[in-house]
Amino acid sequence: MQKIGDLMKDLRIAVLGMGYVGLTSAVAFAKHGFKSVCTTTTPSKAEKLNKGIPPFYEPELGDLVKEMVGKGLLSGSTDNVDAVRFSNVTFICVGTPSLSDGSVDLSAVKIVAKDIGNALAKKGDYHVVVVKSTVVPGTTENLVIPIVEKVSGKRAGNGFGVCMNPEFLRQGEAVHDSLNPDRIVIGEYDKSSGNVLEDIYKEYDCPKMRFSIKAAELIKYAANSLLATKITFANEFSRICEKFNIDVYEVMKGVGMDFRINPLFLNAGCGFGGSCFPKDVNAIVALAKNIGVETPLLDSVLYTNELQPMHLVDLIKNTAGSLEGKVVAFLGLSFKPNTGDTRETRALPVIKKLYEFGVKVRAYDPKAIDNFKRLTDLPIEYFEKWEEALKGADLAVVQSDWEEIRAITADDFKRLLKNPIVVDGRRTYNPEVLIANGIKYYGIGWKNQLV
Ligand SMILES: NC(=O)c1ccc[n+]([C@@H]2O[C@H](COP(=O)([O-])OP(=O)(O)OC[C@H]3O[C@@H](n4cnc5c(N)ncnc54)[C@H](O)[C@@H]3O)[C@@H](O)[C@H]2O)c1
Repeated sequence: MQKIGDLMKDLRIAVLGMGYVGLTSAVAFAKHGFKSVCTTTTPSKAEKLNKGIPPFYEPELGDLVKEMVGKGLLSGSTDNVDAVRFSNVTFICVGTPSLSDGSVDLSAVKIVAKDIGNALAKKGDYHVVVVKSTVVPGTTENLVIPIVEKVSGKRAGNGFGVCMNPEFLRQGEAVHDSLNPDRIVIGEYDKSSGNVLEDIYKEYDCPKMRFSIKAAELIKYAANSLLATKITFANEFSRICEKFNIDVYEVMKGVGMDFRINPLFLNAGCGFGGSCFPKDVNAIVALAKNIGVETPLLDSVLYTNELQPMHLVDLIKNTAGSLEGKVVAFLGLSFKPNTGDTRETRALPVIKKLYEFGVKVRAYDPKAIDNFKRLTDLPIEYFEKWEEALKGADLAVVQSDWEEIRAITADDFKRLLKNPIVVDGRRTYNPEVLIANGIKYYGIGWKNQLV
């Protein structure tokens, strides 16, 4: 049997799943010279990709996709079985969303594991299956491997290799992070499988760390849980700070200078969202409960994260007394800047609550309007220009701090709003600058505001 090491320079990679992780990983592999095929269940997305157009917005992705497709190093397909058959290594990058009890929905993982098994049944050469999707400990060994073995008739470690390789990219920086990871975590079924993965990542300039498969699976949950906890810590302190008329950003600056802590992820705001932190913390909590482990810390992270958007609503209420009939210009619908993704965006609970108080919302977002429209049929007016959303509104609320939103000046607010009031859910602006220029500023963790 030909060893993959001999093939390394002609190695072909199949990436199953054309989302943020799948496509940016496939692009990064192509950039390192590996011929990569990325699959999706949606034919129009594969067609778009083959024309050099990514199916979603992510900074820098458009140019790189165009370049890699142009060079013949990247292609799209809807055929998982063929993609695996004609490659040497397969990365599973399908979504693993939450079920209603918070646990992980592994249905897409099961489907692609069957496809891999079907492909391997028709293949003679060694193949390595890599789980990159975020899955709870035990999933690769107790679900993926048994399905692939049953369908292919081969044995892990003999007929095919297996690794678990969690992804740590940030949406909005996905291309940068895929090309420049901090570290690469390799969970290996056996040394041969781990060696193949380490060879693929040989040119990536960062530590490659090798673990058992279960440890690799858990590292991803531990990392996301800690990041969510850091944000939540700053958020909890934001409400304490407000009562003392202290700026939480000053406090966290002083805290973060301690090298044991570091300043990142201490920015207080109206809560974390997105497709990862809420789902991953919920999943590990659900798993822990199932195995009889209590998680009071993570339970309260999830609880506090629901309080924070309601705290933004309280700040909005404080500006205006009764909100009945008020018009709010709502800036930023995505869960954070530089992405059109609205999964678990804090915009939704805030806007829903505003409608309960009789508010009318005029919303602006550079990329997320279409996705947000799918989340709610509230009678929101949507605008692609922030000037139009602000025009004639009673006050402005900021939920995600896009660069376009950061660039709005005190003069713009004064010129366009009925009242010069800004309620800032993300510390988008320097409050002192806005206040000095005649804006009534309210913000999460800011001082001198009635709460
Ligand atoms: N988005 C992030 O920031 C991020 C970061 C690290 C890890 N992750 C994890 O990576 C995984 C993927 O996340 P994502 O954000 O890319 O998800 P996503 O929802 O953007 O993409 C998942 C893709 O898988 C595709 N898919 C589903 N079933 C398929 C099938 N049978 N064949 C081919 N494609 C199929 C879907 O069509 C979708 O395009 C998840 O487990 C997630 O938790 C995500």
